[in-house]
Amino acid sequence: MISEEQYGQFAADGYLVLRGAIGEDLLAAADDEIDAVIAADPPPAGTAGPHFYFLPPGRLPAADAALRQSGGLRTATELVAPHVLEHGLDHIQIALNIPPHPHRPGGPHIDGHRPGQPKPDSFTMLAAVYLVDETGPGAGNLWVWPGSHLAHQRLFAERGTGALLPVSGHTLSLDRPAALATPRPVLAGRGDLLLAHFLLGHNIGDNTSGGIRRVLYYRLRCDRHDARWAQTFLDAFAEYEPVRRRIIPPG
Ligand SMILES: [Fe+2]
Repeated sequence: MISEEQYGQFAADGYLVLRGAIGEDLLAAADDEIDAVIAADPPPAGTAGPHFYFLPPGRLPAADAALRQSGGLRTATELVAPHVLEHGLDHIQIALNIPPHPHRPGGPHIDGHRPGQPKPDSFTMLAAVYLVDETGPGAGNLWVWPGSHLAHQRLFAERGTGALLPVSGHTLSLDRPAALATPRPVLAGRGDLLLAHFLLGHNIGDNTSGGIRRVLYYRLRCDRHDARWAQTFLDAFAEYEPVRRRIIPPG
């Protein structure tokens, strides 16, 4: 269950981390499944930095179960009720970050933006199931720009919902970028669950640790998101009424 404090964090920062949300049995099964995917199609020798696998949820039943059977999806749904969440882009992403990868990102992006697209490929929420220890920095952590969901909302209100298409979702590539707060790495450990707003600016972090970073990403979309996607760019809480209620109590 999401606490009042966590609702406040999500509203202000655009993300929250739920500690110990996924049980060890589900994590172990997901690890075995990921091991098999990597064994069948290993990263090229010498790969350093990010390496991804995008597979349909039906091909990754243990990864899907880690989100569903843990209750993680039900908890995520608390943020968007009465909407329900489903896989948005029909994939689950296995994300690796192989050391050494000392590069720290200079700016954030939001997903689903490429030049020439008629509209962004948006969704509602990014969820991540953590499989290794990222409780300190330099472990390949996702970097986030807290509050940038609201900065992006303001930018789209001023310049239109297609404003970030030509720059592939990178606001700092615009002539007049949105004002952003200081970024930070997300700190989380095995079994933790990250829930992040689609409009939260983020990027791949540095991995100077001794181990490969491994995480599962789920791009979740509210039912009928396609019909209201533009509204969600102009009003960050359009699909997050339970969050909005905490900021602006009714009546
Ligand atoms: Fe991304």
